[in-house]
Amino acid sequence: MTDKNQFGGNWTEIKISILETYTKQFLTVFKNQPNQKLLYFDGFAGSGDIEVEGINEDEKHTIEGAAIRVLKIDKPRSFNMCYFVEKKKSLATSLETKIKTEFPDKECYVQTKDCNQKLKDLAKFLRSDKGKMFKVLGFIDPKGMQLEWSSLEILRGLPIDLWILNPTSGTNRVLVRKGEIEESWLKRLELFLGMNREEIKNHFYSKRPNLFGDLDVIKENDPINRLHELYASRIAGNIFKYVSNPKILRNNSGSPLFHFFMATNSEIALRIAN
Ligand SMILES: C[S@@+](CC[C@H](N)C(=O)[O-])C[C@H]1O[C@@H](n2cnc3c(N)ncnc32)[C@H](O)[C@@H]1O
Repeated sequence: MTDKNQFGGNWTEIKISILETYTKQFLTVFKNQPNQKLLYFDGFAGSGDIEVEGINEDEKHTIEGAAIRVLKIDKPRSFNMCYFVEKKKSLATSLETKIKTEFPDKECYVQTKDCNQKLKDLAKFLRSDKGKMFKVLGFIDPKGMQLEWSSLEILRGLPIDLWILNPTSGTNRVLVRKGEIEESWLKRLELFLGMNREEIKNHFYSKRPNLFGDLDVIKENDPINRLHELYASRIAGNIFKYVSNPKILRNNSGSPLFHFFMATNSEIALRIAN
C-alpha cells in the first residue's frame, strides 16, 4: 500500500502553483545555456501526492505533490539532476516508486534522511569541483520548525534560489501568552531561529509594571507577522542577499498559516519571485 501526506486544500494548491510558476521561469532563464547544469533540491519531499481537504472536511481529494509537478516540467528545458529528501520511509518509498515509473529517464535521487543533514551535504557538494557547475532551485516545505538555522547558514554565498515555507502560525502557538514556554519548545525555537532564549523572549515579549508594582510579561502585538519579519530580516543581507515578498498562506477561514517566500543571491531571481 502507498502512503501519502494529508493537508488542507486551497493553500497547498497555491503554494505548489507558486513553486511551479517560478520553476518554469527559472528553467526559462537557462534555456539557451545548455552547459549550465541545474539541480533541483526538495528537502521535505513527501510521497508525490497529497490528500487535501475541501471546504468541508469530509470532501477529501488527492492532488499531485510538488515533486511530481516539478518533474513534469520539461519545457523549455528540465533539470539535470533532482534530489529529494523525505525522512519518513514509507513516504520516501512511495515517491521513489512513482518517480521510477513516471520518469524513468530522469536522474533523480530519493533519500530517506533528515533535510538538515542533506542541506549540509548539498553545501559541501556545491563547493566541490563537480558541484561548482550547478545552479540550484531548492524547496523547503516543512510542516513545523524542522528546518534548523544552522542548515540555512551553511548555504551562505551559494548559487541557490530557495523557496521556504515559514511555519509562522505553528511557531506563534508555541510562544504562549505569558512567555512560560516549555523547555522542549524553547530548544526547538533556538534551533529554528538561531537565537538564544533570552533574545527570543526579548523580541516577542515585554515587561510592564502592573497596578501593584510587579512586572507582567506581555506578548507583543501581531506575533505572526513579527515572526516572519524577524526570520526574513535575519536571512536577507546575511545568509542570502535578498528575500522575496512573502505570500501569506491562509486556511479556509482566512487565518494565516504560513509565510512562503524565496531567498536568493540573484537580483533577477528576486524580481521574478516578487
Ligand atoms: C508538508 S510535507 C511536504 C509535502 C510535499 N512538499 C508535497 O508537495 O507533497 C512535509 C514532509 O516532510 C517530512 N519531514 C518531516 N521532518 C523532516 C526532516 N527533518 N527531514 C526531511 N523530511 C522531513 C514529513 O514526513 C512530510 O512528508
